[in-house]
Amino acid sequence: MQNQRKQIVAGNWKMHKTFEEGLELAGQIVSGFEGDKGVEVVLAPPFIHQKAVGELLAGVEGMSLAGQNCHQEAFGAYTGEVSAEMLRSVGARYVILGHSERRQYFGEDDELLRAKVDRALEAGLDIIFCCGESLEVREGGDFLSFVTGQVEAALFHLEESSMARVVLAYEPIWAIGTGRTASPEQAQEMHAHLRKKLGERYGVAFAERQTILYGGSCKPTNAKELFSQPDVDGGLIGGASLVAEDFLSICRSF
Ligand code: PGA
Repeated sequence: MQNQRKQIVAGNWKMHKTFEEGLELAGQIVSGFEGDKGVEVVLAPPFIHQKAVGELLAGVEGMSLAGQNCHQEAFGAYTGEVSAEMLRSVGARYVILGHSERRQYFGEDDELLRAKVDRALEAGLDIIFCCGESLEVREGGDFLSFVTGQVEAALFHLEESSMARVVLAYEPIWAIGTGRTASPEQAQEMHAHLRKKLGERYGVAFAERQTILYGGSCKPTNAKELFSQPDVDGGLIGGASLVAEDFLSICRSF
């Protein structure tokens, strides 16, 4: 039975594709996109590509644009940074925040993420918020509370109307770019736990409406099984989002 949640597949291109390559990829995805399936397809290209990819997606119902990051201030003397307002001004609907690569390589902690979350929402962006544990935490056994702790710390200060604009993405670090995906059961266990915590904070009916994505070595060969789990509402795709056919095949995996 279909639940009432929105299904989303988002492609996180990370630092891949020149401008021309990016436009080509986005063009291929747009032409292969089957808009009538009720799945929202999101592309998150690098900043440089945002405006042009945004223009390609503009008339396409069911597709939207996302930034991969934004600064926590609205504007100012922050050389090299890009604001949520700027993303919004070129048509982005979402911004990805809390990705483990941002946490690990750029020192983004809960406090900074909370500030980014507030800024992005204020600028009118919805959020794809990533959470996930390292292999060490997984093997230590305390992974459920570790991951819900990340979500609570950066998001649970939000009121319900703001939290409704946040899509969670569970991305176990040990599965990102490693080819080692979480099993459908492992993904389901975490997603159900996240939904339970959402329910405790915002009410069960609210939690039932919230989309929770899985990310980490999701590909055409495993997407169907992952997406068939009752609490997995789609995916945040890295490597496999760089090949149009693979990405489109994942989008058709519900
Ligand atoms: P991957 O990346 O699909 O290449 O594992 C997922 C992500 O980091 O969002």
